Amino acid sequence: MTSKRKDSSRVQRRAPKRRASGPSSEVQAHKERLQKTLAAAGVASRRACEELIVEGVVRVNGKVVDTLPAFVNPDKDVITVNKRRIRAEQKVYFLLNKPKGVICTSSDPHGRAKAVDLIDCKERVFCVGRLDADTTGGIILTNDSELANRLTHPRSELPKTYEVRVRGRIEGDAIEKVKRGTWLAEGKTGRAAVKVIKRSRDESLLEVTIRQGLNRQVRRIMARVGFKVRGLKRTKIGNIGIKGLAMGGSRKLTKSQISYLRKVTGL
Ligand code: URA
Repeated sequence: MTSKRKDSSRVQRRAPKRRASGPSSEVQAHKERLQKTLAAAGVASRRACEELIVEGVVRVNGKVVDTLPAFVNPDKDVITVNKRRIRAEQKVYFLLNKPKGVICTSSDPHGRAKAVDLIDCKERVFCVGRLDADTTGGIILTNDSELANRLTHPRSELPKTYEVRVRGRIEGDAIEKVKRGTWLAEGKTGRAAVKVIKRSRDESLLEVTIRQGLNRQVRRIMARVGFKVRGLKRTKIGNIGIKGLAMGGSRKLTKSQISYLRKVTGL
């Protein structure tokens, strides 16, 4: 790889364009396909719900909707199937302080502890992105796949802040390299913000903020500049921090935090 690569080859890309229209409520109103709302409410599979729609048994706010595509706001529209009102699945959003050894996938052949099992709710949630099993700290879990897709899209530039403990004393040269971006297999990483929290001859503690979500990105960046990570904790996702959250504990995101995430992802 050479430094003459074009910008398009860089891992970091521009943020998605924001829509001009403002939020209609604190959490912005959003529309989704009618069959998706019906399926999420447990009516039938998406495909079977499409058939119910074209059969003419589905009404939205009192009017028959029998053509596709059809879009609804599941939080606001009154939807009936054969005159029975369906209840849209509530969207839920949690911040978990993930402990070491807990994994972010929804199933694991090795039977390791899963982040989803630490969330006490009836909805089926999943992790937004990943933290390595060895990494601790903040991870969002939700059943809102639209927001999750936006947050994990390569063009999402949401900053993620980590406390990084490395072996040995890190000096200005290596810090500058991390700040400017380093070459990984996927290309050159974007710029990072780096603060030294403390350092001694044996160990350094840094705060590193990155805007991408490549696999094991922080560990690989540090390895690239010659430092082995001894401990990694994500302290913030955007402006949403884990302060006050016990290890293994979770809390619901507030309306303004959800609104913030929707706004920064252009929803
Ligand atoms: N970077 C890593 O190396 N690991 C994580 O879990 C997250 C970011």
